[in-house]
Amino acid sequence: MNTLVTGRRLARELGEWRSTGPAYRALADRIRVLLMDGRLASGTRIPAERELSGALGLSRTTVAAAYSKLRDDGYLASVRGSGSTLVLPGLERGDHAPGSGLPLDFTKAVTLAYPGVAAAYAAAIEQLPAYLAHDGFDMVGMPDLREAIAQSYRNRGLPTSAEQIMVTTGAQHALNLVTRSLYSPGERVLVEQPTYPHALDTFASVGARMLSFPVSQDGGWDLSEAQLQLRRAAPSMAFLMPDFHNPTGTSMTIPEREFLTAAATREGTVLIADETTALLDIDRGALPPLACFSPGVITLGSLGKIAWGGLRIGWIRASRDVLARILRNRPAQDLGTPLLEQLAATSLVRELPVLAASRSRDLKLRRDMLVQLLGEQLPEWDVAVPDGGLSLWINTGTMSTSALALAARSEGLGLVPGPRFGLDGAFERFLRLPFGHDVEQLRDAVKVLGRISSRVGPDPLRMPLQAVI
Ligand SMILES: Cc1ncc(COP(=O)(O)O)c(C=O)c1O
Repeated sequence: MNTLVTGRRLARELGEWRSTGPAYRALADRIRVLLMDGRLASGTRIPAERELSGALGLSRTTVAAAYSKLRDDGYLASVRGSGSTLVLPGLERGDHAPGSGLPLDFTKAVTLAYPGVAAAYAAAIEQLPAYLAHDGFDMVGMPDLREAIAQSYRNRGLPTSAEQIMVTTGAQHALNLVTRSLYSPGERVLVEQPTYPHALDTFASVGARMLSFPVSQDGGWDLSEAQLQLRRAAPSMAFLMPDFHNPTGTSMTIPEREFLTAAATREGTVLIADETTALLDIDRGALPPLACFSPGVITLGSLGKIAWGGLRIGWIRASRDVLARILRNRPAQDLGTPLLEQLAATSLVRELPVLAASRSRDLKLRRDMLVQLLGEQLPEWDVAVPDGGLSLWINTGTMSTSALALAARSEGLGLVPGPRFGLDGAFERFLRLPFGHDVEQLRDAVKVLGRISSRVGPDPLRMPLQAVI
C-alpha cells in the first residue's frame, strides 16, 4: 500500500509555491521539487484534486491542470479507482538521487577521498588472508578498530573503552540502529531546526512525532525553547549535531553543552550526538565532545567525511547496556560490517589527527574560495563563514530556493533547497551550499548561480521570512 499524503500536509510542504508564471505550472513545479529532494517519496499517493483545491483555496481546474502537467512530464501515474501516485523517472535506473547524473552535484556535502585511502585498502588486502578462516560475520566490529576508535575519544578527553564501541556501515546506519532499538511507538523525538534531512527520514520511518527547536549561525542553540520542549513534551530522544552542525556549520559552546545535557538528564531524554562532521575543524579549535558532559549521551561517528564516503564505516559510542540492546536488534537490520573496510578503517582511525590536519588545510582553501566567489557574483546573499564543516548555510534574503533548485537543475547543477532541512516547509529562503568540491566545480557552480539567480529573481510575493531563525 502506498503512503498517502493528505491535502493539508501537502499544502504545508508546498510552502510558498506561487511564482510569476501560471498557477498550475508553479504548483506542478513545486510538487516536482518536493519529489526530487525527497520531501515526498516516489510512490506517494497524492490527494484527490478536490481535496487539494480545498486545502490550497484554489479552483479545481488549476489543480487538475497541475496534475495533468505532472502526468505528461512523467512524474505522476494514475490508476483508475486508486488515485494518482508520484513517480521519480529514472528510479529503475538507480539515478534517483536529486543531483545524480548532473555534471555539478552539490546535493551532498562531501569531500574528495583522503589521499591515504587507497594505501589503507592495499594494506587491508594484505591482512585479509589471516581472516579468511573465520566466518567473517562481524556484528560489533573488529577489536583493533574498536580500540582505535576508543583511543580517538580518549585523545579528545573522553575516557572510552573498546567495549563502548560498535562499528557500523556509516553514521546513517548507526542512527537507524539506535532509533530502531530504543524508540517505542507513540514517543516523541526532539530535533534541531534546521537539521540533517536523513535524520528526519529515519525518525519519520518509525512513525515518530517530531518536535523542534531552533539553531542559527548567529544565535546558536535556542536553549529556552529546547528546555520548554523537553519539559512539555518529554521526548524520549533528542538528535543533536554539537560540532559543525549540518547545515549551519555552528558549534555548541561549552555552556550550551552543559545546559542541554543537564536539561535532557532531568527530563529523561536520551541525547544522540551525531559527530559525523565533528572532526572537520577549519579554524575553531578543540571543544570537548558532548558525551564529556553526560554519560548517557549516545555518540555517532563516521569516517565518511573525514576520510571517504565510500568506505561506509561509522560507529556508535554508548554504554555497554545500550550497545547490548542494539546488538539484540541488529540482525533485523543487517548482519555486520564488511571486514576489508574495517581493516582499512583501522589504519585510518589511527591516523585521525593527520587526516584532520590535512582536511582542515584543504577545506579552508575551498571554503574561502566559495565565500569569495559568492561575494563577487551574489553580493546580496548573506553568507556567514563557518569555522568548520562542509557547507555554507546561506540566507538568500528573498529568493525561493526551491525555485532556484529547479532552475539550477536545468543548467546541470544539483542543489538541495532549504526546506529539506526543516520541518513543515521552513527555510525556503535558505540554501546549503557545500564547499568540499573540486575548485573548478566551485567556480562553475557559482557561475550557474549568478546566471540563474536573476532569472529566478526575488520572490514576487515578498512574504516575510518564514524561517524560525
Ligand atoms: C550529520 C550527518 N549524519 C550522518 C551522515 C551520514 O553519514 P555516513 O555517510 O557515515 O552514513 C551525514 C552525511 O551527510 C551527516 O551529515
